[in-house]
Amino acid sequence: MDFAAPPAVLAALHQRVDAGVFGYGQPWPSLEAAVIDHLAAEYGWRIERDWIVWLPGLVSGLNIACRAVDGDVLTATPIYPPFLSAPRLAGRPLRTVGLIQQHGRWQWDMAALEAATDAAVRLFLLCHPHNPVGRCWRREELAALADFAAAHDLVVCADEIHCGLILDPEQRHIPFATLSPEAARRSMTLLAPSKTFNIPGLGCALAVIPDPALRRRFCRAKEGIVPHINVLGLAACEAAYRDSGGWRRELIAYLAANRDRVAAAVAACPGVAMTPVEATYLAWIDVRGLGLANPAAHFEAHGLGLSDGADFAAPGWLRLNFGCPRSTLDEALRRFRAACHSVSDQASTRRRSADSAVARQAKSTK
Ligand SMILES: Cc1ncc(COP(=O)(O)O)c(C=O)c1O
Repeated sequence: MDFAAPPAVLAALHQRVDAGVFGYGQPWPSLEAAVIDHLAAEYGWRIERDWIVWLPGLVSGLNIACRAVDGDVLTATPIYPPFLSAPRLAGRPLRTVGLIQQHGRWQWDMAALEAATDAAVRLFLLCHPHNPVGRCWRREELAALADFAAAHDLVVCADEIHCGLILDPEQRHIPFATLSPEAARRSMTLLAPSKTFNIPGLGCALAVIPDPALRRRFCRAKEGIVPHINVLGLAACEAAYRDSGGWRRELIAYLAANRDRVAAAVAACPGVAMTPVEATYLAWIDVRGLGLANPAAHFEAHGLGLSDGADFAAPGWLRLNFGCPRSTLDEALRRFRAACHSVSDQASTRRRSADSAVARQAKSTK
């Protein structure tokens, strides 16, 4: 996002910088308490201190999970690109199943997930909320996934980095691990204050792994490769989770209004469409109707940098980040409209010249 981090985070960082010492650091008790209290207060999730494994980022966590669990990996596309690269980098075969759009919402195709799964599959990579489609998975959907994981004895690595960014007031984030003791036992949940409080560059994240044997496997896979978490990231994490709730509530209201502006702009443009964004600051836009060979390059030529759906296993789609001031967004949406209309204008010019060529031909043959 383009926003300055919460004042409490900035104050904690200033304090740490003023102390002037930047040696290696270990998480300290008040930081661990801030994480534990935050998860209990926000999600009713009671975790133990020992379940936490600190990480420099969630992408590290995804890659470690793929190394820690021996077998094929399954995930649902379109998906944040490291979900596609982490299995490959770990030497694990990846199976993907497309999400489906039903009743105006992206959903898991449970029948296709079943069909794609056999005894070789050991790990499901869950994105919750789902980047890029912006779904906040509901309890009944998560319960179906948990049943599926239990039936095939899968470990579920749940990337819940966007859990603090639920935009719909009537919805709540439900951590996969809170569904049941059985779901908790097979879960590795990846979390961070980074997206919600706009501090991803500080590199501080965590995995919550209740099952001791699974946690040992995860820790062994990261041994000697994953560095210490930097002390500024740890200080920011504590202030974010403990002291920045009010800032986050204001952020959510601002992002929800941005989301509505994006939805209205997309609805008014020819050849493009999107489904409601329930969570995240990302809009997933279907531009296949524009018939462009390279949509990302077309929009970039109109001054708009969008993520290319091809990287998410969905060519023909684009992802727009609306975590920015309204003035930036309005300019972005102006360029978006111009980029869409230039295609329909070109198409009608082509149609008009084709029509007049036909008319000329008809005249000359008279
Ligand atoms: C779903 C998801 N996971 C992980 C990350 C990145 O995590 P990190 O920067 O902690 O590696 C992102 C960033 O966009 C993301 O959207």
